[in-house]
Amino acid sequence: MTRSDGLRFRRLPMVTMLAAGETGAQAGMKHDTQLVHLGRRKAEHEGTVNLPVHRASTILSPDLKSYLGRFDGDRRFETVTYGANGTQNARALASAVAAIEGGHGTVVTASGLSAVTMALSALLGQGDHVLVTDSVYGPTRRFCNDLLSRYGIETTYYDPGIGSAIDTLFRDNTRLVYLEAPGSLTFEMQDVAAIAEAARSRGILVAMDNTWATPLYFKPLAHGADVSIQAGTKYLAGHSDLVIGVITSASETLHQRIADHVMTFGDVAGPDDCYLALRGMRTMGVRLRRQYESACRIAAWLAQQPAVVRVLYPPLESDPGHALWKRDFGGGASLFGVALHSTDLDAVARMVDGLALFQIGSSWGGFESLVAVNRMPLPRAVIPWTETPFLLRFHIGLEDPDDLIEDLAAGLQRL
Ligand SMILES: Cc1ncc(COP(=O)(O)O)c(C=O)c1O
Repeated sequence: MTRSDGLRFRRLPMVTMLAAGETGAQAGMKHDTQLVHLGRRKAEHEGTVNLPVHRASTILSPDLKSYLGRFDGDRRFETVTYGANGTQNARALASAVAAIEGGHGTVVTASGLSAVTMALSALLGQGDHVLVTDSVYGPTRRFCNDLLSRYGIETTYYDPGIGSAIDTLFRDNTRLVYLEAPGSLTFEMQDVAAIAEAARSRGILVAMDNTWATPLYFKPLAHGADVSIQAGTKYLAGHSDLVIGVITSASETLHQRIADHVMTFGDVAGPDDCYLALRGMRTMGVRLRRQYESACRIAAWLAQQPAVVRVLYPPLESDPGHALWKRDFGGGASLFGVALHSTDLDAVARMVDGLALFQIGSSWGGFESLVAVNRMPLPRAVIPWTETPFLLRFHIGLEDPDDLIEDLAAGLQRL
């Protein structure tokens, strides 16, 4: 499929991987409808709306031949074989995520970080070279620097604004480009399609951490990525009460490679967390829409305050990544950065500590508003931070945006 701007999209159906007997959702339906029905197989629920929680270590086999053949061929992916490989709840969550991502299959992992590290370690081997965005989530960087290096895998960080010039960094042993857009804490956008196109022409795989936009607002696989990763901890689960990760692959080969790898490591999300994450997905569309709308309003208001140098949020026209965001994304997270003129930590603490509705905390994607303060500069190899000594990060929750603005206005007074 060729878009009007000439970028090539991979042809992917709106809904793939609908399991036999799954209720309702069909190709072409809108996200909100899909979110209500995906992962539900009426026949297995015994009348309940939601799939009950299947807690298990041992899975009993009906007879000896089924027991001996339980890991054969595709059966290891299709049937529930052992608690450490996930029970029915992991399967239901995986099939819902795969459908909304437009992927071949999804693997559920114990946390967002383990989804990242499992994908990287599944796709790379000794002697390989990986290109990672310089704006990557800090613990992903630590994994590349401290762990992949020990296994003979070399990482080069690239400027997120590089676009198709990424090909200048390709080596004979480059196996993977790893993207995250917008970047963690500094929110740089990337030209995903241009990077993916360059990588594809050299047979290099592309994986993307898409936690910020979620597949509701950006579908990495449709823009040329081979693997899409989400910290389901954030908007998918949506209630700040669990950690979980999901890895979705465009092809069967990649999906099986990652599923085998995750199984080999014994990385698993518990059935209760899978249940809660799937329940979170049912309301994800309305939550995200409301939080995104509030975030746009609050970010625009903050950008006009004299105490603020700039707001780092691609949906704002003033953001350097706005054009790319507008071209590719249908919306976004309710998460943005704020650079203040103040260089005085005591003054920033006066502002933050006195906030009544914004609580201090570092995860995001839940129903509640949060604020975190990061000391700058962050570890970066190619894009040095030359601005403020602190960067605030706000997560906008489901509270009324008028109340949140009032809280922030009082905070800026204290500053
Ligand atoms: C962009 C991004 N990716 C991955 C993760 C890791 O997710 P988790 O906290 O579930 O390990 C986070 C967590 O903050 C994140 O912000």
